[in-house]
Amino acid sequence: MIRQITVIGAGTMGQGIAQVTSIHGIPTRLCDVSAEALTAASGRIDASVEKGIAKGKTPASARDQLKRCLSLSTQLDEACRESDFVIEAVPELLDLKARILASVEQAVSSDAIIATNTSSLPVSKLASGLEHPERFVGMHFFNPVPIMALVEVVRGGASSDHAVDSAVSLAVALGKEPIVVRDSPGFATSRLGLVIGLEAIRMLEAGVASAEEIDKAMELGYRHPMGPLRLTDLVGLDVRLAIAEYLHEEIGEQFRPPELLRQLVSKGHLGKKTGQGFHSWS
Ligand code: CAA
Repeated sequence: MIRQITVIGAGTMGQGIAQVTSIHGIPTRLCDVSAEALTAASGRIDASVEKGIAKGKTPASARDQLKRCLSLSTQLDEACRESDFVIEAVPELLDLKARILASVEQAVSSDAIIATNTSSLPVSKLASGLEHPERFVGMHFFNPVPIMALVEVVRGGASSDHAVDSAVSLAVALGKEPIVVRDSPGFATSRLGLVIGLEAIRMLEAGVASAEEIDKAMELGYRHPMGPLRLTDLVGLDVRLAIAEYLHEEIGEQFRPPELLRQLVSKGHLGKKTGQGFHSWS
């Protein structure tokens, strides 16, 4: 039974995770260095809960759970001190994550579990700066977190059975379906997802079809809920570029980031979150 969860990082994933833990009645501290980011995240969580209620997919009681359970903090120590489960969800930068995880370990009690929401970074490497890597585990959520059913639980080289079981139990308590995977580059999901996403960008570069048509091809021809370019927009072009760079290094040529992806990221066209990616988002 988890008494309190801390979610570190109020970006797309952090706010989604905090939304889901709160509406499931778990006291949740959402922590970010930026007070503005926290305020913006809180507004987006409110709006998302209202959308879920309006669509009949979230019970109306979620509104009260959210009010009761979600609180915000800019102080990592204070946000972690009382928590027995911490989920780090800061950007996919190994050094940044490792630094924050080490600070989290100093702040929490000795029996707290620490999880990282990473889509591809090696859990064992992220654990290397921890004094107790056995309490550390990967917990990969999917965007949009309130809707997507999967949580990929990643067993690092030193993760204890207790840490893995705790992450699996938490995922189930949040209404998700967990799978447990070995700590291998891109795990089970990003490795496959990236192959389609990057190839779609290369096809766009080569003029095979427009972004609209490539997406339509996979939506209607393969019944993907969303075409690969629209999905890249949803995930964030910067996020996909970082994963591609890492998998290119670790696995090989098929993950070399296409030039068009680099160009769009350098122009700040990061997808849905900035209003422009392969598509325009109003
Ligand atoms: N709570 C809050 N909002 C909800 C909701 C709920 N319970 N249920 C639905 N909504 C929202 C949806 O988010 C959507 O919002 P926008 O208008 O802002 O897009 C809107 O209500 C419409 O929802 P629908 O239920 O009608 O859903 P849809 O049929 O339009 O499908 C979708 C939306 C679920 C996102 C679907 O297109 C889909 O499954 N897309 C693929 C998503 C995917 O593959 N995600 C994984 C990405 S990879 C990743 O995340 C890993 C990583 O590490 C990078």
